[in-house]
Amino acid sequence: MSIGRFIALEGGEGVGKSTQARLLAEALEARGISVVLTREPGGTAGAEAIRALLLDPPGSGWNPRAEALLFAAGRSDHVERLIRPAIEAGQWVICDRFIDSSRAYQGGGGGLSESDILDLHRVGSEGLLPDLTLLVEVPPQRTAERLAMRDADGSDAIGGRDAAYHARVAAAFSRFAEENPERFARIDGEGIPGEIHARIMSALSPLLEERA
Ligand code: TYD
Repeated sequence: MSIGRFIALEGGEGVGKSTQARLLAEALEARGISVVLTREPGGTAGAEAIRALLLDPPGSGWNPRAEALLFAAGRSDHVERLIRPAIEAGQWVICDRFIDSSRAYQGGGGGLSESDILDLHRVGSEGLLPDLTLLVEVPPQRTAERLAMRDADGSDAIGGRDAAYHARVAAAFSRFAEENPERFARIDGEGIPGEIHARIMSALSPLLEERA
């Protein structure tokens, strides 16, 4: 049986990850790979219910620790019921956001320590990490424009946080990629979707060659 793989897409708000996740899933399927396309927060019934609590919180919202716990709880369900079984069955899991979003948003943005976030992940999901994390990056000016457009549309509780929060998130993501080049591929998110997709496919070529 072929080896299952776990690929996460990460990045700030509105960098086009979801489109890229879909294009990647289609390209892998066209090569005969069985793919599970999923997202966080969410991916299972329980984790989707937690997503609603996180993005549209009741009352005055969650404190930063409660928020981190909820992300970890949703992820735990997602890993146990969907991600691990799929990898074990030899499928490729493409996940729109995973643990590095918690490290960047709840850690970098929200101020929780890296070790606390990783402890929650160890307890919740036995520390599962992607084989490859595709970090889609756009210049800060583009992020600011997209945030302004989203705000006009009505953003969610996390996307709607101020520019300083999102700048800390972006800085955290780029630090992770620098510190861990073997797990991260930095993808230039500028250009039309087809161009960005081509960059993603070339970042994936080592994994695809291993399979051949
Ligand atoms: P979503 O609408 O899926 O955002 P996007 O299209 O930008 O991916 O909303 C997910 C939000 O949740 C987004 O603002 C990032 C945030 N988030 C965290 O703060 N921590 C996490 O661990 C994850 C997975 C997401």
